[in-house]
Parts: sequence; C-alpha cells; structure tokens
Amino acid sequence: MHTDRRNWLKQVTLLATALGTEPLLFANGLPHPPPADKRILLNSNENPYGPSPLAQKAILDYYLRSNRYPDDMLTSLKKKLATHWSVNEENILLGAGSSEIIGLALIAAGTKFRKQLLAADPAYSVWQNQASALGYDAVKIPLNKDRKYDLDEMLARTKYIPATFIYICNPNNPTGTYVDPDAIRRFTETISKDSYIFIDEAYTEYADLPSLASLAISHPNIIVAKTFSKVYGLAGARIGYAMAHPSTIKKLASFQPWPDGSVSTVGAAAAIASLDDMDFVKDCKKKNEDIKDSCYKTFKEIGLDYIPSSANFILFNIGKIKKDLTREMQARNIYVQYRDHFGGKWCRVSMGTEEEMLEFTKALKEIAA
Ligand SMILES: Cc1ncc(COP(=O)(O)O)c(C=O)c1O
Repeated sequence: MHTDRRNWLKQVTLLATALGTEPLLFANGLPHPPPADKRILLNSNENPYGPSPLAQKAILDYYLRSNRYPDDMLTSLKKKLATHWSVNEENILLGAGSSEIIGLALIAAGTKFRKQLLAADPAYSVWQNQASALGYDAVKIPLNKDRKYDLDEMLARTKYIPATFIYICNPNNPTGTYVDPDAIRRFTETISKDSYIFIDEAYTEYADLPSLASLAISHPNIIVAKTFSKVYGLAGARIGYAMAHPSTIKKLASFQPWPDGSVSTVGAAAAIASLDDMDFVKDCKKKNEDIKDSCYKTFKEIGLDYIPSSANFILFNIGKIKKDLTREMQARNIYVQYRDHFGGKWCRVSMGTEEEMLEFTKALKEIAA
C-alpha cells in the first residue's frame, strides 16, 4: 500500500479511536466518507454514487501533495483529456467547474458595448447574474412543443438582432430533453461567425450523445464545455473544461489569472483516475436509468405529468398538488427544486440512490394524497 495512504489510514483510525468510533471501511479497505449531512439532496443533479473507486484512491494518493502547485497534474489532466476526446492539448482549458468556463466565455464574448445573449426558456441559467453584470441583454426563446430547443426560432431571432453569445444546453437542464447534435451542427453553420456559440455538454454522457468537440476545435466562435461534476461524481472537486479552437482557448485563458490553474492537485488526480473508470460510469448510468423508470411509474400512478428525461433528473408537473411540495419535502429532509415553467408549477428532482428515491416517492405519494 502507498505509504502516504497508510499514514492517512493510521490517522483516520487514531482519530476514530479517540472519538470512540470505528472508521467505516469500503470493501477495498478505503475509509467510507462520512455523509456530508443527513439530507436527501435531490436538487443539484449530482451523482449520488461518486466519486468512483479509482478517483477515491487517487484523492487519497495525492492529497499529501497539496503543499505543491499542481502544474504537473494539470499537464497530465490536459494530456488525458486530449487523448480521451482526440483533440490537442491546446484545444483544452481547465476551470473550476464548467461554471467558470461559462463565465470566461461570457467575458471573452462581451467586449462589445451592446451585447445580446440568446438562450432558451427554460434552460440552465446560473450565468444570468454575471451576464447582466457584464451588460448583456438576455433574450430567451421558449422551448418548442416537444420541450426541446427551438433552433429555427433562435436562428430567426438572430436575423434581426445579432446575438453576441448563444447558449445551448444539450441535454437541456431542467427538461432533460435534447436536440440531435447534427441539428446543432447545422444551426452553427447558419449563425454569423461574430457570435459565440456556447454548447454546454454537462449531461451528454447520461444521454449517450456524441460531443461536438470536433466542431468546436475547428471553429473559433464555438466553445464546448464539459464537467466532472455530473456522471463522474466530482461536483465538490470543481473541475470543468472548455474545448475550442486554440485561438479561442488562448482568449478564454487570458481572463484567468493562472490559465488552467483553478484546478487543484487532488481534483486533477481524481479527474484523471475517473476517466479510467468507465465501469463506474456505466454502472451509474444503468442505475440512473432504472431509477428514472421507477420514478416515471410513480408519477403515472399518482397522475402527474412529467417530461421523459435523458439526463439524471426529471421535471414533473405539480399543478395538481394542493400542498406546498418543496416545503413538505423539506420537512421530510428531502430537497428538490420548485420551478415555474410553461405557465405552470413544476418540480425538478435529481436521481438519488435507490434508498433515497424510495423516500422521495413515499413522500410524494403522501403529499399528493
Ligand atoms: C447544464 C449545466 N451546466 C453547467 C453546470 C455547472 O456545473 P459545474 O460548475 O459543477 O461544472 C451545471 C450544474 O448543475 C449544469 O446543470
């Protein structure tokens, strides 16, 4: 066993003995992380099973290197990602989650005095405050009747008001729907090269969608963003990245004080290891699909409309429920997101573990009764 890890295990054991508790161990001998808290968190689309066993091991192997800057690890992570996506290292920029990448892209695109951001409604919009602080006017195009991106309408809109920044989330959060990546490819061909097109691929792995990385690296106005926060189960480690043309990567990097340097040694080690743990990804996806199926069954049983999702969350309609669903859920220690969409009341629930979802469906039945 690695000496650093042996020391660490010794420390954990000593601490546990001092506290009069036994450390819980995984079958592979690694300490079981204590639960962050006892809440059932179904509100941020995290992976309830992660980090993967290989990523956990990497975290333990590398945490004692935290006294050193992560340069070598950042280079290794970029190499690993370049191989993974068949791109070059100069096509990649690392950030503290894809949130940082969205922010950098907004800054890079926002050098004009008047700027318009084109997005969909509803879609992921955590960037909203930053966009408005940077002086963007956000225009949101409603999803079409299939609750999917209306690319024709978005294109029509750019004909009379050119967009500075177009945000496309595919699969879309919060609906879990997606458009064919080839449709996005065709869309990008019709858009002025002066517009930045940002393609957020946070959930493509769940949907088995191909990445549009190859498109991005050959078009300086297109950026693909990916994250380790979802299927790789590393939301707390904060690792995301952009894939784009080298000139675009350079531009994005110029807005980071230390290009790539927002990722820690431990985070980079975990990310590298998780790319080697495709069995874990496969397993998480399978569990996610099974759990979504059993959720759909419950929604049908109760008579609630829902949008079939290709991601790790489901948006379901709660217009029929008289009680305050989010408050009632919280009273039971369950956290979900209330959403006002399509002129009605909806709830977005992330897929937790089987046990968590049993609690959720039990609570939902009680609240809806
Ligand atoms: C569509 C989408 N993009 C980006 C993010 C941000 O992820 P992170 O900053 O953790 O990489 C999220 C998180 O929920 C998301 O749903």
